[in-house]
Amino acid sequence: MSTQTSATILITGATGSIGTELIRQLSAQGIAVNAMVRSPDRAKDLGQLPGVTLVQGDFDDAQSLKAALKGIEKAFLLTNSSEQAEAQQLRFVAAAKAAGVKHLVKLSQWAAHSDSPVRFLRYHAAAEAAIIASGITYTFLRPNLFMQGLLGFKDPIKADNRFFAAAGDARISLIDIRDIAAVAAVVLTTDGHANAVYDLTGPESLTHTALAEIFSAVLQRHITFVDVPEPAMKAALSGAGFPEWQAEGLLEDYAHYRLNEAATVTTTVEDVTGKPARSFGQFVADYAFLFS
Ligand SMILES: NC(=O)c1ccc[n+]([C@@H]2O[C@H](COP(=O)([O-])OP(=O)(O)OC[C@H]3O[C@@H](n4cnc5c(N)ncnc54)[C@H](OP(=O)(O)O)[C@@H]3O)[C@@H](O)[C@H]2O)c1
Repeated sequence: MSTQTSATILITGATGSIGTELIRQLSAQGIAVNAMVRSPDRAKDLGQLPGVTLVQGDFDDAQSLKAALKGIEKAFLLTNSSEQAEAQQLRFVAAAKAAGVKHLVKLSQWAAHSDSPVRFLRYHAAAEAAIIASGITYTFLRPNLFMQGLLGFKDPIKADNRFFAAAGDARISLIDIRDIAAVAAVVLTTDGHANAVYDLTGPESLTHTALAEIFSAVLQRHITFVDVPEPAMKAALSGAGFPEWQAEGLLEDYAHYRLNEAATVTTTVEDVTGKPARSFGQFVADYAFLFS
């Protein structure tokens, strides 16, 4: 681990799916960043990328956030969705304000709202409100369902050619995380995104049955979507080790999808990055080796 904090951009959630991709993209563009990680030892590969300095920081430890934010001008805020997420994000916003951070780019979620029946959307709304109240310039990225979430079904797709969700015939404009990272990279490195809220989607709105058809066409074998009732989805999530709070939150998410509340397609990825958002077919083709 380098002890030198050379960059003025801090990336949190750095070892996660979006954070890793964002850091790879910024590093490839020659942009220096500090990557906040809980365990620098476990993040050695990230620290090998050109321009990346690992800094230790834990959302549950205000002192570590103070140290990680020293000298930082722009920060990318991402936590995973846990019962602690709201408190963690509010702690980070307070530390960013105290450190004099000029711009916060927050990874939020499609349809974040304080009145939402979906707990994830309420905690994101609370964090957004705290950022607005802090007076720090912000950009909120509100992506729809991640295509990479389907990687959670790679084993049943490999073994049985099936995947499951309580999705009914909901249409969802799901998005590839590589496009979310590309938007974040532009926002962190160029002007013109002050106090903007970006609703991020893929290029089309698809039912899970349509996802199965695309899987089948790209993988050249028949893949089936199995619509499951909520109790079966809950049992599967609990069996996979999801904490109760998170499993209940995912059920709320899927109830919201079934109301077709996540079906709208936006052009924001292309508007911001200049490149069209990746299609689901492209996603399956790029990750085909994991499904076969
Ligand atoms: N999944 C979806 O379809 C979807 C859709 C829209 C929005 N979102 C939002 O996306 C976010 C999750 O993004 P993601 O998938 O990239 O997350 P992820 O892969 O789960 O990564 C979470 C990151 O947070 C770090 N972290 C966890 N606890 C921490 C702590 N106490 N202190 C410091 N770092 C900590 C993890 O580091 P370690 O390596 O140390 O664990 C990891 O780097 C959530 O806010 C969710 O609401 C998700």
